[in-house]
Amino acid sequence: MRARRMPQVWDPGTANPKQRQFFTSRALYTAYGGAKGGGKTWAVRTKALLGAYYYPGIRILVMRRTYGELQSNLIEPMAQSLRPGLARYSAERRTIYFSNGSLIRFGHWAEGRSEQEYNGQ
Ligand SMILES: Nc1ncnc2c1ncn2[C@@H]1O[C@H](COP(=O)(O)OP(=O)(O)O)[C@@H](O)[C@H]1O
Ligand SMILES: [Mg+2]
Repeated sequence: MRARRMPQVWDPGTANPKQRQFFTSRALYTAYGGAKGGGKTWAVRTKALLGAYYYPGIRILVMRRTYGELQSNLIEPMAQSLRPGLARYSAERRTIYFSNGSLIRFGHWAEGRSEQEYNGQ
């Protein structure tokens, strides 16, 4: 029998105490710092995906300074976790589209142009 390429269940793991605080924050702006390897990027990936699945029609923008930082740590693992039929990634639009109308866009900073592009998002 051929191995299934897609996981049947998306299991990102269990949030550690700091990640749990990040997930449950109700502040308009929540800053999350700390040493490399502490789980900041995991928390961003997981909170964005859970939010998109849970809240139909939500629009999420994930930004990093450069496109390289987006690609390996955010876009690739998130795109791989998607279940066909529930969500798909468009590389052209750098956006994950969910069947419930939610979307996650990925952006990076390109100086003045980005100020125009992302203003209001
Ligand atoms: N709660 C968690 N459950 C499972 N794996 C986790 C969890 N938090 C972090 N990881 C994994 O630990 C590693 C380091 O986390 P990462 O988010 O990259 O840290 P940071 O962005 O703070 O440097 C990554 O491989 C990440 O997937
Ligand atoms: Mg990181």
